Amino acid sequence: MSRMSIMSFNSYPIFVIVFAFFVRISSQVGSKVEVLPGFEGPLPFELETGYVGLGETDDDMQVFYYFIKSENDPAKDPLMLWLTGGPGCSSFSGLAFQIGPLAFKIEEYNGSLPNLILRPQSWTKASSIIFVDLPLGSGFSYAKNVTAHRSDWKLVHHTHQFLRKWLIDHPEFISNAFYMGADSYSGIPAPAIVQEISKGNEIGLQPIINLQGYLLGNPVTTRKEKNEQIPFAHGMGLISDELYASLKKNCKEEYITVDSRNELCLRDMKSYDECLSGINTFFILDRYCKDNSRKINEDTWRRSLTQKSKSSSLNSHPITVDIDIRCQIYGFFLATQWANDKSVRKSLHIREGTKDKWSRCYTSDFEYEISNSFEFHLNLSVKGYRSLIYSGDHDAVVPFISTQAWIRALNYSIVEDWRPWLLEDQVAGYTRTYSNQMTFATVKGSGHTAPEYKPDEGYAMFTRWIANKPL
Ligand SMILES: *[C@@H]1O[C@H](CO)[C@@H](O)[C@H](O)[C@H]1NC(C)=O
Ligand SMILES: *[C@@H]1O[C@H](CO)[C@@H](O)[C@H](O)[C@H]1NC(C)=O
Ligand SMILES: *[C@@H]1O[C@H](CO)[C@@H](O)[C@H](O)[C@H]1NC(C)=O
Ligand SMILES: *[C@@H]1O[C@H](CO)[C@@H](O)[C@H](O)[C@H]1NC(C)=O
Repeated sequence: MSRMSIMSFNSYPIFVIVFAFFVRISSQVGSKVEVLPGFEGPLPFELETGYVGLGETDDDMQVFYYFIKSENDPAKDPLMLWLTGGPGCSSFSGLAFQIGPLAFKIEEYNGSLPNLILRPQSWTKASSIIFVDLPLGSGFSYAKNVTAHRSDWKLVHHTHQFLRKWLIDHPEFISNAFYMGADSYSGIPAPAIVQEISKGNEIGLQPIINLQGYLLGNPVTTRKEKNEQIPFAHGMGLISDELYASLKKNCKEEYITVDSRNELCLRDMKSYDECLSGINTFFILDRYCKDNSRKINEDTWRRSLTQKSKSSSLNSHPITVDIDIRCQIYGFFLATQWANDKSVRKSLHIREGTKDKWSRCYTSDFEYEISNSFEFHLNLSVKGYRSLIYSGDHDAVVPFISTQAWIRALNYSIVEDWRPWLLEDQVAGYTRTYSNQMTFATVKGSGHTAPEYKPDEGYAMFTRWIANKPL
């Protein structure tokens, strides 16, 4: 328990103190964080951090989370659980780079602690959000044997167990509308998590979760997204008409597993790779910066499912200070410096000795088991859950073309056809709604993590959708 929270009980009658203390040790309620090193003054929102234990013993499977109460009306606003992609990137990425109330101040690192500022377009202005560090090994979560707990299905089960345990410890949120939110790689596990929550409710698992739906940003879904990267690159003017025609002809529109004897296709793929070698595929309009970690992630999606990723060390992508400050990854570098600072860890109530080095993404030893999440979407829509699938339309990693293709394959009827959605009278993107309560939206001019690059548009999209309003 933090010093701060002990002090906050001082004015209460003694029985309240005793009762509160009893509740605290008998369950796993996290601790309030009222100040954070690098941020000036007290936090103007309610942050709680803590662990939820999933194993038999105390040192086995401890899942770390950041919980931010809605800054609007936490009693009535929805509760969302956010799972960043990777697999294995800390959901602190979602908090600090995309949709949370804090952001790093981008300034030259000089050895002193990086500074934090407020993000005005935080999604916590309309919803309470739990940012969870899963799979085990990511962020500040830890386990006796991390390797034993890293696979798609383990991630699904752990997230589900985490949520029920968290709600038992926070009964005041059990009745709130619940949404699952995820992006990137988590397009694979998240629909399975939603299905597990739904099945759990059906068989009477407690507490009953008031599951309403899910939202996914540029979600990996079929693991064949790369096949749509080529038409995308052509449409965006990154390759010539002739190369595109030749690729289609020689590779027969299969660009992921190329027959090593198909020399014409290999030659075209080489030309293709050269054309894109200076492009930041996560956001083609952004600065290209050398960053191996992203390449590793991209490759692992395409690997065969039986193979485990083998990049071994915890710190498989050391980041040095010679990153250009204009690179998006400069912020990741600052986050890593910040999260590894002693005073920061103390403020976040990180248990000493549980995490040697915090990395934004820990992607080693993950077993890929779910080849495709398409069928989960079908199953969930039958049950009537709402969904929002959004695409930053300048992402080449999970291009909007691939997302539209699997949505089309669901065969849902169109309720409201393709139209622009607006922010301040400007086109912010395009949207279409389907039967089965599915909404698709693009975020115009944005990348893989859409709200990161277009915060105002991302905020408008989220707040309209979560309030059941048209975009
Ligand atoms: C480092 O930069 C920060 C502002 O970014 C400044 O407050 C601090 O004094 C600097 N420290 C040193 C050692 O120069
Ligand atoms: C950790 O788990 C892995 C995978 O289940 C297993 O191969 C390994 O032996 C375990 N390590 C220890 C120290 O128990
Ligand atoms: C979808 O639902 C059906 C019927 O409950 C079930 O048999 C199937 O396994 C589900 N699909 C997935 C991918 O879980
Ligand atoms: C969608 O319709 C096509 C063409 O009728 C059919 O082949 C396919 O199986 C349908 N898909 C689903 C998921 O129902």
